[in-house]
Amino acid sequence: MKPNLPLNADRLWDDVMALADITDPAKPYTRRSFTQLFLEGRAWVAKRFEQAGLTVRMDAGGNLIGRREGRDPSLGVIAIGSHSDTVPSGGRFDGIAGVVTGLEIVRALDDAGVVLDHPLEVIDFLAEEPSEYGLSCVGSRAAVGALDDKMLALTEPGGEKLGDAIKRIGGDPARLAEAKRSDIAAFLELHIEQGIVLESQSLDVGVVTSIVGIRRIEVIFEGGADHAGTTPLHLRRDALVAASETVASVRQRAEWLASETSGYFVATVGILVVEPNASNVVPGRCRMVIDVRTTDPAMTTRFVEEIDKDSAAHAAAARVERVAFTTLSDGPPVACAPVLRDAYHAAARSLGLKATDLASGAGHDAAFMSRICPSAMVFVPSKAGKSHAPEEWTERDELAAGAAVMLEALKALDKSLPRRAGAIAK
Ligand code: GLV
Ligand code: MN
Ligand code: MN
Repeated sequence: MKPNLPLNADRLWDDVMALADITDPAKPYTRRSFTQLFLEGRAWVAKRFEQAGLTVRMDAGGNLIGRREGRDPSLGVIAIGSHSDTVPSGGRFDGIAGVVTGLEIVRALDDAGVVLDHPLEVIDFLAEEPSEYGLSCVGSRAAVGALDDKMLALTEPGGEKLGDAIKRIGGDPARLAEAKRSDIAAFLELHIEQGIVLESQSLDVGVVTSIVGIRRIEVIFEGGADHAGTTPLHLRRDALVAASETVASVRQRAEWLASETSGYFVATVGILVVEPNASNVVPGRCRMVIDVRTTDPAMTTRFVEEIDKDSAAHAAAARVERVAFTTLSDGPPVACAPVLRDAYHAAARSLGLKATDLASGAGHDAAFMSRICPSAMVFVPSKAGKSHAPEEWTERDELAAGAAVMLEALKALDKSLPRRAGAIAK
């Protein structure tokens, strides 16, 4: 139990749980971006924003924003945010904890009668998790002017374009330039750690030093669907054979590169779509997505070149065509702003909480926001490091402690940030 936190831990907790309840009942906890459930979740968030006295709007990039005016309208906005979408069968906290923390901070400021100098915005960024359109961080890309026409033209398996989906949920891709922010003085994001450092060292909060770079590559093999009983092995053109050899190459090359670097390197094949996916049919088509993460972009380039060659060779050996080897997205690693990190550390000390510096192997909206303003993250513990799974868990008081660190840092930054938006060094 953390005593005397300057916010309401139960109110914060209850809201996280209420949002978690808005899930596909067959696959807790699932609230995929652009779905009906996602819209229900967002309607709930918007209502809570309004109840907290925030002025609610949606920007052209589909970000849901609640705003609280400050004393000095000439100052840049301090923004707090994260995302309310989930991976399939994900957890209750990833992203949601950050959005609800922003909301609770507003309520705690109100309870304490604090009027900030800066305007404050709480942002629920659209589609932080990789969406069915093959893109992640859709809303934070829009907020920094990094959502381009090629991305808007990406389609989901049903044929809908990302641009049309953004319009369907209330954004306006024709006016995307208006979503690009130039008025934000600082961006703060609370997130669950999704790793075991804090728990294993009995620490209260992590202050994020850097966020890993992520590149995603789509590979498609096309062979020929044939009868699995009557087609001799030497006549088959089995797309899954080429794909599975490529999965093995990804793992082997990644292990080799991880052992080569003093930094961080991981690679994963998390999507494998086999067609027609029937037990008695030779696979005719196979689509895979490779997710590559590192703190060193040169490593990613080297790895992708190797997998390019390997997958072409595996296709030739299986007598199939490799019809796509395409970069879906490519974000560089990002350093968090020292001035904000210092504020988090000072806040933790003032609350008597134990903090450590920590690098993030997960991607976050803060990585994009750092392109336009100083940005930094607070991590709270994840039980057994589990995340992107229903077992994802953070204790009520652990979450409240992280939120309190953000609140105290916010109050200090409100006084100490340079008085001109964008004027401080990242
Ligand atoms: C976001 O959850 C990511 O790291 O993929
Ligand atoms: Mn996630
Ligand atoms: Mn997240």
